[in-house]
Amino acid sequence: MSVLPSILATRHLGLDIGGATIVTDVSLEVREGEFLGIIGPNGAGKTSLFNLLSGLYRPTAGTVSLDGRDITHDAPYRRTQAGLGRTFQISSVFPRLSALENVRLAAEAKLGGMLRFWRQASHVRTAVDRARWALGRVGLGASEQVAAGSLAHGDKRKLELAMLLALDPRVILLDEPMAGVSTADVPQLAEVIKAVQIEERKTVLMVEHHIEVVTGLAERIAVMHHGALLACDTPAKVMENETVQAAYVGDAL
Ligand SMILES: Nc1ncnc2c1ncn2[C@@H]1O[C@H](COP(=O)(O)OP(=O)(O)O)[C@@H](O)[C@H]1O
Ligand SMILES: [Mg+2]
Repeated sequence: MSVLPSILATRHLGLDIGGATIVTDVSLEVREGEFLGIIGPNGAGKTSLFNLLSGLYRPTAGTVSLDGRDITHDAPYRRTQAGLGRTFQISSVFPRLSALENVRLAAEAKLGGMLRFWRQASHVRTAVDRARWALGRVGLGASEQVAAGSLAHGDKRKLELAMLLALDPRVILLDEPMAGVSTADVPQLAEVIKAVQIEERKTVLMVEHHIEVVTGLAERIAVMHHGALLACDTPAKVMENETVQAAYVGDAL
């Protein structure tokens, strides 16, 4: 296997809420440039794990590190600055603003700083250029003037991805990016995500219900069940893992 160092790692990560175990003893190493799929039944703790990684939740046990640096107690914005990005929920998209304006706002947040700074035309230019690049990157170049709220579901997901790319993250967390997307549009969206990983050299962690999508995209798959990591291996090995198969009996994907 690869000898590349891990870019994102958890050690014995755990989260209890009100006496309930939500995430337990998750030790995971994600290599730079890797595509890691995360699967598991509903309620397995996948989104909670992302919340722990992005800093929305504070763990009750264990650590999270980025590039070998302990970020367990860093605020979410610090993690974003350090290169850890997660897709915006659709609620953070301004539906009446154009696709371009939405991405430009994200780009400004990255290039950021004070409003005064943004009054300088050159910096506005930079943000617009960056937004155009990100929209083109996800295949929305022709839709830049369309109101975000009028985009088809699949295109809204691409817009979220473009907003994320505008922040120039090194590690991207995607929580069910295919949700709400029509079956016919799933392969194209999957292709866009894969192209971003390969061509922009991003490390991608993707929670996904469509198991055939995950096995096609991911180099390794982590399987979660009842908050724990059941397995983390190549798609083929995970699929033949008996513990994984047993965990899925009676649990619809
Ligand atoms: N803030 C919270 N308060 C209480 N329970 C939570 C909270 N966040 C998640 N949970 C619970 O943790 C479990 C795992 O949820 P989640 O991480 O959303 O699972 P998944 O994304 O795998 O479907 C669920 O039982 C959920 O109800
Ligand atoms: Mg979830």
